[in-house]
Amino acid sequence: MVSEKEKKIVDPKCVIVALDFSDSGKVLELVSGLDPHNCRLKVGKELYTHCGPALVERLVADGFDVFLDLKFHDIPSTVAGACAAAADLGVWMVNVHALGGRRMMVAAGEAVAQKPHQPLLIAVTILTSMGESDLHEIGLAGCAKENVLRLAKLAELSGLNGVVCSPLEVEVLNQQCGEAFNFVTPGIRPAGTAVNDQKRVTTPVDALSLGSNYLVIGRPITAATDPLVALQTINADIHSSFILSA
Ligand code: C5P
Repeated sequence: MVSEKEKKIVDPKCVIVALDFSDSGKVLELVSGLDPHNCRLKVGKELYTHCGPALVERLVADGFDVFLDLKFHDIPSTVAGACAAAADLGVWMVNVHALGGRRMMVAAGEAVAQKPHQPLLIAVTILTSMGESDLHEIGLAGCAKENVLRLAKLAELSGLNGVVCSPLEVEVLNQQCGEAFNFVTPGIRPAGTAVNDQKRVTTPVDALSLGSNYLVIGRPITAATDPLVALQTINADIHSSFILSA
């Protein structure tokens, strides 16, 4: 049992609901039952490619913090332009691939810094779908963990605000990166919920205890009979285990 004194401080809306849908109707129906004070939203490549920036602007106008998960990876000027456009959409967080290199990440950061609204800029290190043989095939030596750590450090050195990673990598990364560096973790499953196609999962409370700052949670909320109740249950669990930041 964690004493009150030892309790960690967490963001009261650390849950980011992954909107893995292909049409705006389903998204708007789901979101109409959610409260922007209790969660954030993630728009990924599928939804964005179907519905475009108009849906993102609508979610932002409805008061939600939106993580635009488009994983930009291109030459520095192109990624800088894309990140500037994301800032103009009013999103709360946007991401790039650390494999795009330091100059690309620095250019992205500089583009965002010039905007009146500045989203958090985070990096994807190694996709969790990549096994060791995949890494070797594309010429990356070492194991996944070594590559993740090296790329996370490069993202931090390039001025980014954090990385997307597995909750199982967070503890080591936390020891190696500064306090202000954020860890956004998918692969979260509340106890007793379906694992779906995730391989190794962590509960929300365990992920936060390990050092995650934000939890990306999709199907345990979006496929629940009552998504609001599913979110409230997760939040209640988090709120009883941690101190909430103001
Ligand atoms: O439904 P579920 O909770 O598994 O959704 C997780 C979300 O996090 C999806 O949008 C998925 O694309 C994303 N994600 C992931 N694993 C990663 C990176 C992103 O599951 N390594």
